[in-house]
Amino acid sequence: MRLNLMLLICVGVTVSQNVTSYHGFKKYIIDHTNENIYKYMIELQMTSTNIDFWLLSKNQSIVSVSPEVQAVFEDRLGALEAPYDIEPFSDNEGVCESDSEYRRSTRQTSGFFKRFHRYSGILDYIYAIAASYPKYVKIESLGYSNEGRVIPGISISINGNHRERKIAYIQGGAHGREWICTPTILYTVSEILANIHAFRSILQNTRLYFVPLVNPDGYEYTHTVDRFWRKNRHRFPGRQCVGVDINRNFGLYWGSRGSSNNHCSEIFNGLTPFSEPETQAVRTFLEKNRSRVKLVLDVHSFGKFFFYPYGYTKASPPTKHLLHTVAQRASNAISNYRGTRYTIGSSSNLLYEASGGLDDWAYGSLGIPLSYTVELPGNGFSVPSHEILHIGRETYAGFIEFIRHVTLF
Ligand code: ARG
Ligand code: ZN
Repeated sequence: MRLNLMLLICVGVTVSQNVTSYHGFKKYIIDHTNENIYKYMIELQMTSTNIDFWLLSKNQSIVSVSPEVQAVFEDRLGALEAPYDIEPFSDNEGVCESDSEYRRSTRQTSGFFKRFHRYSGILDYIYAIAASYPKYVKIESLGYSNEGRVIPGISISINGNHRERKIAYIQGGAHGREWICTPTILYTVSEILANIHAFRSILQNTRLYFVPLVNPDGYEYTHTVDRFWRKNRHRFPGRQCVGVDINRNFGLYWGSRGSSNNHCSEIFNGLTPFSEPETQAVRTFLEKNRSRVKLVLDVHSFGKFFFYPYGYTKASPPTKHLLHTVAQRASNAISNYRGTRYTIGSSSNLLYEASGGLDDWAYGSLGIPLSYTVELPGNGFSVPSHEILHIGRETYAGFIEFIRHVTLF
């Protein structure tokens, strides 16, 4: 009965909002056994609006391909002698999930990490934990999204910030479909608060700042219309295609490699650097606190990577060794939980060159010493609900390790 009701709610949404169907879509997992295959994939990511890149790394890509172009695509792969596997979309992939049935439990904090929540459920949770720890937590608005949703910031400090000299900044959810980022960050928030006394010495001179959902519009859209939406929901008058890739809109070497000026591209960089309210909100906070922010983590999914700058070029940053060492320590901390292994390096070398990312701008323009993009675990964007808590726990250990290094600067 309960299940039937949920399905009805889901179908109701389907009819009224015209949910994007992934019927007949296939997932291709392609091994880059030679350089030409990798180059072709990079080219395709830049130019094709029919092929959606879920992962593009040096060794492998995972792409979602609509039925119309599958034959041609397979032909091209054949010509390149590229080995590949095809996976059908799993039953629940691309299907909306309504959480109306769970509204009641959402308001309480227990059970939050058992499933994914809508934006309103996330806000409820944030306000609930703030109410439980009023001495240490302040909820702020980082800014507002294109569609007017508040982008919540969670500030954790002791002594009312009197002795604050440093800030650790962790954000996630810049890409709508990467659902696991938000609960993972909120799990860290809840663990720190539950063990606040263990963090006394860190909090003596450091404030922790968490932004669990940078792109609430894109996130809501993945719950109501298109499960695999990546960009924000900026609408351009007279244009069919909607949205800007938030992680191509930051201002260091904006509009150079690995971003597109085509509105219909998944990696559309916007009309100008910081054209988007979501990137402006992040910029305003980080610029205002520029001299104090020592750590920026931008949490994405998926692939189990720690990326340090640069993303826009393969050239090494001046402090590469330090960046690598700190990430290595975080990765070791994570592996203690159940052996999860992260790969560490610059995204330009491990994935592809891509400009306009937060990591590059925070490091290169603001001079923030520890700046990373984190790619959480998963085989796709639909992480099973029972994994939320495990990913939360293991990643918590890594985040704490990063935070511990803030006191060095
Ligand atoms: N998957 C992320 C993206 O494509 C990686 C970003 C890495 N950073 C960068 N500056 N390219 O947005
Ligand atoms: Zn992402």
